[in-house]
Amino acid sequence: MDAEQGLPPGALPPGSVIGIVGGGQLGRMSAMAAARLGYRTHILTHEAEGPAAQVASGVTLGAHDDPAVLRRFADAVDVVTFEFENISADGLELLASLKPVRPDGAILRISQDRLAEKRFIEAAGVPVAPWHAVEDRAALDVAVGTLGLPFVLKTTRLGYDGKGQRVIRSPDELDAAFDALAPHPLVAEAFIDFACELSVMVARGLDGGAVAYDAVQNHHRDHILNLTLAPAPVTPGIAAEARALALRIAEALSLVGLLGVEMFVAADGRLLVNEIAPRPHNSGHWTMDACPVSQFEMHVRAVAGLPLPPAVRHSDAVMKNLVGPGEMALWPQIVATPGLLPHLYGKQEARPGRKMGHVNRLFPRGALPGAFGIAAALGPLAHDGSFSEA
Ligand SMILES: Nc1ncnc2c1ncn2[C@@H]1O[C@H](COP(=O)(O)OP(=O)(O)O)[C@@H](O)[C@H]1O
Ligand SMILES: [Mg+2]
Repeated sequence: MDAEQGLPPGALPPGSVIGIVGGGQLGRMSAMAAARLGYRTHILTHEAEGPAAQVASGVTLGAHDDPAVLRRFADAVDVVTFEFENISADGLELLASLKPVRPDGAILRISQDRLAEKRFIEAAGVPVAPWHAVEDRAALDVAVGTLGLPFVLKTTRLGYDGKGQRVIRSPDELDAAFDALAPHPLVAEAFIDFACELSVMVARGLDGGAVAYDAVQNHHRDHILNLTLAPAPVTPGIAAEARALALRIAEALSLVGLLGVEMFVAADGRLLVNEIAPRPHNSGHWTMDACPVSQFEMHVRAVAGLPLPPAVRHSDAVMKNLVGPGEMALWPQIVATPGLLPHLYGKQEARPGRKMGHVNRLFPRGALPGAFGIAAALGPLAHDGSFSEA
């Protein structure tokens, strides 16, 4: 059988190798989805025993900024994608000269830089929080004048899980924050007293067809995602607007791949986009059990040039992250509780703040309970009372 025959133009036939830059859990779960579709995956990582390498058919070990390593990696694959966003512009260009890179490096460059990201999102006609570029100390005083207090000061690069940002509540804090946050430039953002945080996963294929999953609500703890509620308990109007904004950004980027779009719902119901990530996203893990086609399969399909099925949801769901040694200690109870659907990432050491896995809990469509019901449904994982505001 010629598996290529009849596939859309440019689509990878079964047996092709998808190269993934980055060896963490997002690569692992993408590799597992790729295997189900008959693809092999090859990981570029410095961790021989990392989460993705454990389940891939090949690994190139080395640094993602070493041209020789990148060449060896590109030689081994048919297409390149990412689960790790901090590859250098030079590294990206080298990869793109050797194999198709999806999503395109230009998209990665926008998402790597909060200033470029805000400019792009605004230019696409999508609202963001008021912001001010902070190139030097004087610009910080201007930012206080235009944004008022409090505001959030962030690095433009390399931030994650709340690292690389500070809330400034008084002018006394400006000097220390300016010196502590690096590299410069920084970006100052108005502090949004949000009603809640939402995200939408959107995918766009080689043929330009795009799909968006339902908007979900995210709860953070210590700046790390703790819970995702699918669908977000917001009005149908807000939910539709969130999907529309995510699709508009994907279109403006000419995305081929998967994109997570994080948003704030302001007190007046207006949506403001916070940041974008052109890869699978922690707040999309609920799709692994609540949707016929998970975010990881959608990612693989988009990158491989396959058709994108509708991003439908057959169940409501709660996703709870398993973070650090405390929550890993609950593993025996988690696997003993019917209805909890666990996913572990194969990380050897449960350091504080490290994402070790997640658990999904499904409910019939329309039956997502309130905070009390969610806590009850999560059983042993409601251990610290952190669902009171869910
Ligand atoms: N302008 C803001 N106003 C209020 N809260 C914010 C603002 N920016 C960020 N936050 C809070 O900090 C979290 C992390 O910020 P984010 O910009 O998403 O950085 P990261 O790259 O760490 O995810 C957000 O999910 C939100 O809870
Ligand atoms: Mg974020």
